[in-house]
Amino acid sequence: MKDFLTTQNWSQSSLQGLIDQANEFKLGLDSDALKGKSVGLLFFNPSLRTRTSFELGTWQLGGHAVVLEPGKAAWPIEFEAGSRMDGDTEEHIIEVAQVLSRYCDLICVRAFPKFEDWQVDRQDKVIKAFAKYASVPVINMETISHPCQELAHMQAIQSLIGKPQNKKYLLSWTYHPKPLNTAVANSSLLISTKFGMDVTLLCPTKDYILDKRYIEAAEKQAEQNGGSFQISHDIESAYADADIVYAKSWGALPYFGRWEEERAIRDEYQHFIVDQKKMALTNGGQFSHCLPLRRNIKATDEVMDSDYCFAIEEAENRIHVQKAIMSLLIKNTEQNAS
Ligand code: CP
Repeated sequence: MKDFLTTQNWSQSSLQGLIDQANEFKLGLDSDALKGKSVGLLFFNPSLRTRTSFELGTWQLGGHAVVLEPGKAAWPIEFEAGSRMDGDTEEHIIEVAQVLSRYCDLICVRAFPKFEDWQVDRQDKVIKAFAKYASVPVINMETISHPCQELAHMQAIQSLIGKPQNKKYLLSWTYHPKPLNTAVANSSLLISTKFGMDVTLLCPTKDYILDKRYIEAAEKQAEQNGGSFQISHDIESAYADADIVYAKSWGALPYFGRWEEERAIRDEYQHFIVDQKKMALTNGGQFSHCLPLRRNIKATDEVMDSDYCFAIEEAENRIHVQKAIMSLLIKNTEQNAS
């Protein structure tokens, strides 16, 4: 595989290989897998964890990272094929990806949806264009899925509960005052079903069900990997006996671009906050969130400060899994060239 854009086209065993390698890095493995290599980190959106872990992970492997923010300190980029560029964009992805491929050995991209039209956003045009026009591997740092977060999450789950097969996994929607990206929620379904967990998606109403691409993938992967997948709108039964609770807020897809309308609905579901009462229904369950998280909005202080919260462990794992991904893609490139 040239790129790491989604886990959907990676087998469970190949993802497990990345997690095993990440565990080696976590135990202190020293590696110069990126010695003399350069990594372009393109951020169309803000970040704390992703930027820090990719920059430091590259440096730890002997490489050098360059951070670019198109539209801020780098030229705004055009992505429409055949566009007559008389607007705000200054150069086309065709040149950008080719030029960066001459400088960099890896290109990593964070490009969230524009939150205006889901039918456009779900095409994931930005990262697909980078993958199309770049001659070097491209890594997804979060677009409409977040595959690096998936691996960090699964690495933490395995260290806490061992084999995830048929362990009960709950992805719960939580309230947030703004409509957020569905990427981590999509990814949560992908990775939990990839590893054969018994997965429940809990959300307030059918309006909050994720895109059918990810629901269908979850159903298919659950079947292929001996797990299960269901959707629930009932908090108590969804939490009952869960081994892992993962929380995320996201905007309702049918209201995409009409956020004032959705807000009135979303505000009714503030009680989806993760609190100790709900966690008491679980099977001594462990809790996590990808972060950033608004305390006492998405989860209470008690949950975030509890022994069963592994959000910090998961955040640490980002650097380990990304080192594993970057090392593998560079190795693949070198093998293909020889
Ligand atoms: N979880 C995550 O990707 O964090 P950042 O948005 O801070 O990078």
